[in-house]
Amino acid sequence: MTLLDQARAVRENAYAPYSRFKVGAAIRAASGAVYVGCNVENAAYPEGTCAEAGAIAAMVAAGETELTEVAVIADAPRPVPPCGGCRQKLAEFAAQEAVVTLATVGGAVSVTTVGELLPGGFRAADMAHAVGPD
Ligand code: THU
Repeated sequence: MTLLDQARAVRENAYAPYSRFKVGAAIRAASGAVYVGCNVENAAYPEGTCAEAGAIAAMVAAGETELTEVAVIADAPRPVPPCGGCRQKLAEFAAQEAVVTLATVGGAVSVTTVGELLPGGFRAADMAHAVGPD
């Protein structure tokens, strides 16, 4: 199964009773293992979490902190663009060149990179001049 197929499969488990917009995400980590996530909404709307965040949490919980490839899919008019927060979350664990495949359930696909999704993003290296805790 391709990474996109795994994102498509986990999307079925999305809990999205409020938006009715189900999203699936799959991440390939440096080890080659794949971690999946779906969006999980909440009656307290801001408590909902994105599919990408779920997949990242699964990867980190498994002991991995480097991702090489991402796929995201939803029933959208265009290949689903990750929200700003998820672009930042993906960049935390990826090289700029990491490939991101965005897709629609209808079959449209767009291939981009983490760097293209978040040009100029804030990274750990930007804190190089910060002092440590007292
Ligand atoms: N959503 C994701 O899970 N990932 C995206 O890339 C875009 C948006 C979710 C959040 C919310 O549950 C629903 O889609 C509508 O915003």
